[in-house]
Amino acid sequence: MAQEQNKDMQDLIEGLNQDLAGEYNAIISYLQYSSKVTGPYRPQLVAFLQTEIPDEQAHAQYLADKIVSLGGEPVVEPKPVKTSNHTREILEFIYEAEAETVENYKVRRNQAEKVGDVALQAQLDNMISDETNHRDEVRKMLSGWG
Ligand SMILES: [Fe+2]
Ligand SMILES: [Fe+2]
Repeated sequence: MAQEQNKDMQDLIEGLNQDLAGEYNAIISYLQYSSKVTGPYRPQLVAFLQTEIPDEQAHAQYLADKIVSLGGEPVVEPKPVKTSNHTREILEFIYEAEAETVENYKVRRNQAEKVGDVALQAQLDNMISDETNHRDEVRKMLSGWG
């Protein structure tokens, strides 16, 4: 029984570390994309992309703190960052990454429930809400791209 609990906790910590690598990826992506986007909507895109960075940084900080609280070691490497010279493709990368993040956090929420960490579940709900907003805003941009 005790060993089962440990395995669940190990899986949760491993998952949170994958999420942390994803948040590092998001910070770097938004920063790099804000420099690279071109076209008539560049000023709005730069503003949009730059406002995402503090959200993702707060997610990364929360995850790193939580991993340490659970007895783990936070990773230091980001998930590999995709980039492009085409603004539409950049938006597609963002859409895919945010949609994937939402799904990952749903899995993590179930894992948090399994170990009885209600506070982590609540925080993951907030992060699911943030990432869903990011995903849906980018979907709207892409749907009117022409
Ligand atoms: Fe995030
Ligand atoms: Fe996001």
